[in-house]
Amino acid sequence: MKILFVTPECAPWIKTGGLGEVSAALPKALAERGLDVKVLMPAYTALRQLVDEGQVLANIPAQGVWPAARLVQAAPAVNQAAGFTLWLLNCPELYELAGGPYQNESSQDHTTNAVRFAWLSQVAARLGSQLSPVPGWQADIVHCNDWPTGLAPAYLGRLPGRAASIMTIHNLAFQGLFPLDEAHKLDLPDEWLSVSGLEYWSQLSFMKGGLQFADAITTVSPTYAREIQEESLGFGLQGVLRDHADRLHGILNGIDTEVWNPASDTFIPQRYDAATVKAGKRANKAALQSRCQLPPDPDAMLFGVVSRLTQQKGSDLILQAVPQVISEGGQLVMLGKGDAGLEDALRAMAQQHPGRVHVSIGFDESLAHLIEAGADCFLMPSRFEPCGLNQLYSLVYGTPPIVHATGGLADSVVDDATGFVFAPPTADALSAVIERAFSRYRDPPAWERLIQSGMAQSLGWAGSAARYESVYRIARLRVI
Ligand code: ADP
Ligand code: GLC
Repeated sequence: MKILFVTPECAPWIKTGGLGEVSAALPKALAERGLDVKVLMPAYTALRQLVDEGQVLANIPAQGVWPAARLVQAAPAVNQAAGFTLWLLNCPELYELAGGPYQNESSQDHTTNAVRFAWLSQVAARLGSQLSPVPGWQADIVHCNDWPTGLAPAYLGRLPGRAASIMTIHNLAFQGLFPLDEAHKLDLPDEWLSVSGLEYWSQLSFMKGGLQFADAITTVSPTYAREIQEESLGFGLQGVLRDHADRLHGILNGIDTEVWNPASDTFIPQRYDAATVKAGKRANKAALQSRCQLPPDPDAMLFGVVSRLTQQKGSDLILQAVPQVISEGGQLVMLGKGDAGLEDALRAMAQQHPGRVHVSIGFDESLAHLIEAGADCFLMPSRFEPCGLNQLYSLVYGTPPIVHATGGLADSVVDDATGFVFAPPTADALSAVIERAFSRYRDPPAWERLIQSGMAQSLGWAGSAARYESVYRIARLRVI
């Protein structure tokens, strides 16, 4: 089976969050199952060298607002290291903009996002049709990820000899909404612009396009698959999702055990496994305390956080929990980046409590790994969480996670067995669960059991990749 996995980000080249990691690890796991997997992503500025060293597979002529583009395959060594074949959509005018994949340096959305991601979707659709620009290669499955790829299932519907399409929702809170009149330049026919098509409260919704037209819809945990069919977490699309419930599947993310593995992690000073976890974590905790200017106290319970700083992630709840962590003798290290108001409040809080709280604002891969390895427990009080990856990393690093019972957090952490689970997402409930965690920590044999149960989990991608392959087979039946 030929799979085109289309995504706006893919680690290690471009990553703003979990989607980037999933876009590297899942294709690798699918390729290991023997599938022919190409990952298609825009050639942003950071990828220019890959384009220069790659091989041009096709020249794609300009069409309407879309400039001419080239499809470039990364060099063999790059593909070999990745475990799949990387295809880049090279169109400097659209993709080589200053800033990140979605926003400019002032954190404003790029003004051409509709055109940029519609072009990515259009090229993906063609690669899954008889009009494929690559001679001899046509996808059987076009696997789309989040709103930037949401128009591909719609475009595919109008192309001859089409592939089946899968739409994976990583986060329904981001929908790709644009003025409806942009639709005309994006080659979307009028009959699609109604409420039963891509229209969402008088706007054009890329995400809704994916949901309406895809042959199968997946999301990244079974609990989130249920939650998004309800008003509270459906972001206005709960009706559409309920209508398509028969083709909606929840498949929990895995982790890339080559990147997130305490026994081989090159970012941490002391590598360890379940047998050596005690000494390993003690050394990493000391390194973390030293890096974050905290006193080198081996007994102070050290709470770690790595997160986008947003309402979704409950960063404000963490702020409210700080006095309790301190009064119980704990320490807190927090790494994140996000809403300016939260960043300011967290910086101020760290200044108030030197030697007890360290806040690092920014994106820092090596500190993220050191926090997983050096903290005693990991705080993740997300109000909603489609899957979440850090709680999975925390389990395998022997750092019991404290999570709110939602989405993938509820599906991956077992209260009092591998971590701590609380609800509802309020300061009071968080305070009660932190109290429970402190008392468990003060009972070393019980704490050790918690660590060992978490580390015994098998959280790699193999099982979930097999589930995706079954969904591909089901989706193909809708086309044949
Ligand atoms: P989301 O995609 O919603 O942000 P996930 O838990 O799925 O949440 O994935 C987040 C990923 O991004 C994790 O691998 C996490 O370690 C990483 N990450 C988040 N913030 C930072 C940061 N400030 N520095 C380094 N890595 C980060
Ligand atoms: C999104 C979600 C997160 C999930 C990630 C990868 O960013 O917010 O929960 O783990 O996608 O699927």
